[in-house]
Amino acid sequence: MAPSHWSFSAWMFILCGYAAGLYKQPSSEKETTRNCTSSPPILPPTVVNTSQQLSALRQEMRNLNISAYIIPATDAHMSEYIALRDKRREYMTGFAGSAGTAVVTMTKAALWTDSRYWTEAERQMDCNWELQRTPWISSIVEWLLNEIPPGETIGFDPFLFSIQDWNSYSEPITSAGRMLSSITTNLVDTVWSTRPPPPSDEIYELNHEFTGSTWQEKVSSIRSQMSQHFQKPTAVLLSALDESAWLFNLRGKDIPYNPFFYSYTLLSHDFIRLFVNVSRITPEVQKYLNTNCTGPLCIQLIDYNQVQENVRNYTEGKVKVWIGMEYTTYGLYEVIPKEKLLTDNYSPVMKNKAVKNQKEQQLMRKSHIRDAVAVIQYLVWLEKNVPKGTVDEMSSASYVDSLRGKQKHSAGPSFATISASGLNAALAHYSPSNKTKRKLTVDEMYLIDSGGQYLDGTTDITRTLHWGTPTALEKEAYTRVLMGNIDLTTLIFPSESSGRNLEMVARKPLWEVGLNYGHGTGHGIGNFLSIHEWPVGFQSNNIPMAKGMFTSIEPGYYHDGGFGIRIEDVALVIEAQTKHMFGGQPYLTFEAVTLVPYDQKLIDITIMSATQINYLNNYYQTIRNIIGPELQQQKLEEEYTWLVRNTEPFSQGTLATVSMGLMTFTLLANVFLQKVLI
Ligand SMILES: *[C@@H]1O[C@H](CO)[C@@H](O)[C@H](O)[C@H]1NC(C)=O
Ligand SMILES: *[C@@H]1O[C@H](CO)[C@@H](O)[C@H](O)[C@H]1NC(C)=O
Ligand SMILES: *[C@@H]1O[C@H](CO)[C@@H](O)[C@H](O)[C@H]1NC(C)=O
Ligand SMILES: *[C@@H]1O[C@H](CO)[C@@H](O)[C@H](O)[C@H]1NC(C)=O
Ligand SMILES: *[C@@H]1O[C@H](CO)[C@@H](O)[C@H](O)[C@H]1NC(C)=O
Ligand SMILES: *[C@@H]1O[C@H](CO)[C@@H](O)[C@H](O)[C@H]1NC(C)=O
Ligand SMILES: *[C@@H]1O[C@H](CO)[C@@H](O)[C@H](O)[C@H]1NC(C)=O
Repeated sequence: MAPSHWSFSAWMFILCGYAAGLYKQPSSEKETTRNCTSSPPILPPTVVNTSQQLSALRQEMRNLNISAYIIPATDAHMSEYIALRDKRREYMTGFAGSAGTAVVTMTKAALWTDSRYWTEAERQMDCNWELQRTPWISSIVEWLLNEIPPGETIGFDPFLFSIQDWNSYSEPITSAGRMLSSITTNLVDTVWSTRPPPPSDEIYELNHEFTGSTWQEKVSSIRSQMSQHFQKPTAVLLSALDESAWLFNLRGKDIPYNPFFYSYTLLSHDFIRLFVNVSRITPEVQKYLNTNCTGPLCIQLIDYNQVQENVRNYTEGKVKVWIGMEYTTYGLYEVIPKEKLLTDNYSPVMKNKAVKNQKEQQLMRKSHIRDAVAVIQYLVWLEKNVPKGTVDEMSSASYVDSLRGKQKHSAGPSFATISASGLNAALAHYSPSNKTKRKLTVDEMYLIDSGGQYLDGTTDITRTLHWGTPTALEKEAYTRVLMGNIDLTTLIFPSESSGRNLEMVARKPLWEVGLNYGHGTGHGIGNFLSIHEWPVGFQSNNIPMAKGMFTSIEPGYYHDGGFGIRIEDVALVIEAQTKHMFGGQPYLTFEAVTLVPYDQKLIDITIMSATQINYLNNYYQTIRNIIGPELQQQKLEEEYTWLVRNTEPFSQGTLATVSMGLMTFTLLANVFLQKVLI
């Protein structure tokens, strides 16, 4: 959950509560942050001395006669997670947070970041840097116009700017009489002598058993979409790393958490060009890619660094290049004449990748079965060890990662595990560290949001737990989050519905008592690809829901200074069985493929409807049927017993008895909540 570029940021800020202002640093940390007004300045040991890299960068700027240089925190593919060698902003500023943009002039240096990172920035930056407490480009532009006189030039690396970001800078800056200069040699790279080398490990073929179709089939499907498009594009240009990885069934490990390799693809009717470090492609993979021929189903391997020139050359002809605006950088956009561009928010590859075929669905389900085993092992372990007082947020995070690592086809975690106890969980974006870690105890709620990469699928699950006696508020809030999760999962909706129009169903049980959460309700997910797979999800900029898509469903509730709740499952969009079919298209619904029981202690069935309880009982039966045999097969008897105990159906008897007191109970609970939350 660490966004680094704008389209993810825009999306994830909302997903992670930035907009709701949920983030406050947990404690007073004055003594560990810098003080630049005292003389001499007070600098904690965590600060990085940036004088040398700044003066080297300014020398480069002087050579090029530019007055300012902009340094974003992304890579040339707008990746969500970036490799160390792409952490240019961090190298220049010392600030390690995932979001934030730096600007250097001849006399000043400034960093813009959002409230999640202010304390971290004050701890890590020296007094060369001013901190601008806002993430917005408009604020950067305003500052630049103040610092840079008309007629002077501001430099930037076009490969680190999305087209939208570039527009946000370019329009106000050029209309105010300053110039923007696109410099393809990155100036930070030039001065960064200790920059980690480019990855050199082999790029590998994902075994046929783990892929939904061959690369030839995928290529044909994209080509037929090109033919069918009324604008008759002659080629598709792919910039996002998961596009080329998916299209060719290739994987690498250039990026943390995502099995990707640096690449671009230019796919026309007549040729396929894969821009990559060619020496990383073994002879076997070359054979697999048909590189030794020159037909429309032969892949030409071309050096990664030639992509810009090659695309420029290609666009000299009578061509039309189809690009996805969300992922293409200005570096490629600027070399294509505008009349030769076909722009869409998403490339056809993004759209094809979003809809999983039968085999991909099966693979995804299988990975979730083994993932459930690892998570259940973890829950059993917590139940035994938390009361002993020996578990903290960090040790538990690494333990759940290690359990996944033991499952078949495991390829590491799919993101940095969020393991958060008590008030730490109220920060929806929290990630544990040795500094902030809390011990897990029977007195606090605990939130675990984690996932795995497996050769057959990517997983993402959140469970919230309590091993002691939850308060009435904790229990009601948890139950309402669960009710929202169930209501959205079971919702039947017309095909092509936008997720944005569906997601309020997950909020309704919370809204009813004046509660809410400040993040999005879910995101797409890949088959051994991205944990946050664009463009599926419940935000306004996601594509409509279609059969075969996978999305997370993850409502939550965050009680500042107290606790945090999130219940997240991955679900598949399937056809619903409806009596009628107005509109002629099958209606859709979801099917949860995450198969791990919820915390019985936190569920208050007296506020749930019979439909919700029925769903829960059916879901638990499915878990028993599917995960039970897998636990037995893995000889995990203790876990099997735990599973049976934790999937006991909520009996109608129980329901009947408690329903009697339902009215008064809910009334009391509501009064209580209103009191507490005012
Ligand atoms: C920084 O130091 C100055 C002078 O010692 C002091 O007045 C000021 O309160 C300090 N600021 C912070 C934020 O601690
Ligand atoms: C930072 O490093 C430079 C040398 O690169 C040195 O001259 C300067 O004194 C250092 N600044 C601080 C605050 O330590
Ligand atoms: C540098 O840029 C300024 C305007 O920003 C211009 O007046 C000057 O001639 C340029 N110098 C060189 C050496 O290009
Ligand atoms: C390309 O990969 C090889 C290893 O196969 C490595 O030695 C080389 O440094 C890489 N070059 C670039 C420019 O990435
Ligand atoms: C490609 O063809 C050449 C000559 O035809 C041959 O020497 C080479 O081994 C072939 N490479 C692959 C990967 O098949
Ligand atoms: C682009 O075209 C020029 C002239 O036709 C040629 O010299 C150059 O090698 C081409 N570059 C690439 C990357 O194909
Ligand atoms: C946290 O502390 C443990 C134990 O002291 C240590 O092994 C680990 O490397 C530390 N982790 C980080 C990220 O500093």
